[in-house]
Amino acid sequence: MKLLEINNLHTYFDTKKGLIKAVNGVSLSIEEGRTLGVVGESGSGKSQTAMSILKLFENNQKIYEGEIKFEGKVISELSEKEMQKIRGNDISVIFQEPMTSLNPVFTVNRQISEVLMLHQGLNKKEAEARSIEMLKQVKIANPETVNKSYPFQLSGGMRQRVMIAMALACKPKLLIADEPTTALDVTIQAQILKLMNELKAETGTAIMFITHDLGVINQMADDVAVMYCGQVVETAPVDNIFMDSEYIHPYTEGLLTSIPRLNTKRGEKLDVIPGSVPHPLALPQGCKFAPRCKYATEKCRNEEPELKEIGPNHQIRCFFPVKRGGNK
Ligand SMILES: Nc1ncnc2c1ncn2[C@@H]1O[C@H](COP(=O)(O)OP(=O)(O)OP(=O)(O)O)[C@@H](O)[C@H]1O
Ligand code: SF4
Ligand SMILES: [Mg+2]
Repeated sequence: MKLLEINNLHTYFDTKKGLIKAVNGVSLSIEEGRTLGVVGESGSGKSQTAMSILKLFENNQKIYEGEIKFEGKVISELSEKEMQKIRGNDISVIFQEPMTSLNPVFTVNRQISEVLMLHQGLNKKEAEARSIEMLKQVKIANPETVNKSYPFQLSGGMRQRVMIAMALACKPKLLIADEPTTALDVTIQAQILKLMNELKAETGTAIMFITHDLGVINQMADDVAVMYCGQVVETAPVDNIFMDSEYIHPYTEGLLTSIPRLNTKRGEKLDVIPGSVPHPLALPQGCKFAPRCKYATEKCRNEEPELKEIGPNHQIRCFFPVKRGGNK
């Protein structure tokens, strides 16, 4: 069953220079208990899609069109008060840099307990016991000590574990993880990813996993949404993207060929996508990827393709999807 469904979502920033269409017609869904990996270059709208789900908006930002459904209910029109009941309870989030989300002046216990007292009605003592239990669950070796610590006393990896404990404290149905391991070194990153997979298997929480790293997607995701210029350009089960599907979006093809391979020789140039993401105030007409696409035609430069079903659970936004093996 679909846990989250986003239909044609448009979230814009109203700036002095014009409307910035950060989310420009996103459609995607997340099935119960599954992990959707959201991937795309910087500025493609991954974080703003997540912020739209939680309605964590700046003053000059709002939803202009489209809807977000959670468990079949439209949540994109809820008031701030109603959203507060959902955030941290049904849907929680972890960010790249835990120091920006953890409050530096409160102990770990105070921060996890607060969530539990607010959403689950636990008293102080119950919340403290549960906080220690949560720290054990995220494999922190000395949970009683860490529970009494302040964020600055912990390493980056430990802080990220605390964030995960806090996010999972109320057993959310959906966990949004926005580049949760990007700031960590490779070994710690691997440990955190493993931990998240274990917790998902234990709790059945669905995850929206945002990253710019297709290698991480391969490791974490059941399904993938590839984003470009505020739109989803391809969505499919992960194996389709990496191996099985007959057709693929030219942008996904570019991302795949730019993954460093183990057998890449030192100094050998990686096949990177030429050009850069267009400025959000100067989006091209027609297909947004056309200026960088080696398959672009006149039609692509004039008309905008729609996201279309190309196989079971597989959608592509492109007039001329690439056939694997080289022939278009
Ligand atoms: N506060 C803001 N005011 C105006 N525009 C913004 C603001 N925050 C983000 N944007 C714009 O919205 C678009 C989408 O940004 P978003 O942060 O969602 O990208 P992203 O895919 O998460 O990138 P990254 O990989 O760098 O995190 C970008 O064009 C960005 O410039
Ligand atoms: S529609 Fe055209 S320009 Fe856009 S991705 Fe497809 S082939 Fe490339
Ligand atoms: Mg981001």
